[in-house]
Amino acid sequence: MKIKKIGVIGAGQMGTGIAQTAIQFGYQVCLRDANEELTRKSSAKIEKGLARLVEKGKLTEDQKKGQMALLQSCPDLHCVAQSDIVIEAITENPKLKMELFRELDKLAPKETILASNTSSISITLLGSATSRPEQVVGIHFFNPVPVMKLVEIVRSLRTSDATFQAAMGLAESMGKTPVPVKDSPAFVVNRILLPMINEAIYVLQEGIADAKAIDTAMKLGCNLPMGPLELADFVGLDTTLAVLEVLYQDMGNDKYHPAPLLHKYVEAGWLGRKSGRGFFDYSAQK
Ligand code: CAA
Ligand code: NAD
Repeated sequence: MKIKKIGVIGAGQMGTGIAQTAIQFGYQVCLRDANEELTRKSSAKIEKGLARLVEKGKLTEDQKKGQMALLQSCPDLHCVAQSDIVIEAITENPKLKMELFRELDKLAPKETILASNTSSISITLLGSATSRPEQVVGIHFFNPVPVMKLVEIVRSLRTSDATFQAAMGLAESMGKTPVPVKDSPAFVVNRILLPMINEAIYVLQEGIADAKAIDTAMKLGCNLPMGPLELADFVGLDTTLAVLEVLYQDMGNDKYHPAPLLHKYVEAGWLGRKSGRGFFDYSAQK
């Protein structure tokens, strides 16, 4: 199938990055967040991102205008559902996502593919909320989307070959390297990455080293671009906890038990970079 128009739901960090990358590769995008103010902020962020590329000489002003013209804010779910594919990037919560897929299934044309950017939740489960499970697929982008090359394409038990191929083709056409993955809790990268982040939080909780020392040790000792605690702040501590909870519950193994300190930070509203405070302080950057 030929994809021309992409609906993006959730205009947080991931939805914003997906929308920006999609318009940069010539797709029409309808963007929607439950919070309209956030949709406006997201469009402004995208414009700023493209303006930075113009400053760097990587894009002309005319190209920027052309790309921005591809971006539309959708006032309601019906509007965003009128797309060739809808990529959901809302909060990592199975109940909210199931509800959204149920609604989208009612509103979207029968050919529309429904995709999720979930970090961990079962695509088979999301498909079961619809009458078109064979057209439901995981398209898992990485943060920051305009920079990160990988996309995991998650095939549920019921995803059809046509849907899977369309998702692989879409990721490639957006300059990404798609990797096929079976539907399993947290897929591949987060299954491996999140236990490392969780262990770093246990190390902090046990007072073995402070946050800065843990991150410096891991950055210099393992040649990582960001330490595990800075990366957790970057992802969002709410999302980090949600992924660990899926791993812990669905794998039934204590090794995924989320560090109690992580629960405390989320309870405190310290969600990382997006809230201005996490394991580190970002208030000066807000
Ligand atoms: N949007 C667009 N471009 C961005 C960007 C953003 N948010 N952040 C950085 N960039 C671009 C910069 O413009 C710069 O581009 P040029 O080279 O063309 O000038 C380039 O990326 C490098 O940026 P900086 O020099 O400012 O900073 P850096 O070298 O420290 O790199 C980083 C920043 C790419 C984020 C790097 O720190 C990094 O790779 N961090 C780890 C990211 C990571 O592991 N992501 C995966 C998280 S897990 C996940 O996503 C899955 C999940 O489900 C939770
Ligand atoms: P975020 O908190 O930055 O944004 C989520 C957005 O969803 C918010 O703006 C919220 O208002 C909106 N939202 C919530 N319920 C909604 C609904 N019913 N309808 C419309 N909008 C709704 O979160 P994020 O970091 O962008 O993550 C979004 C998704 O992408 C999650 O599933 C997450 O697991 C996944 N993901 C996150 C990362 C990451 O590094 N943060 C990486 C890959 C995948």
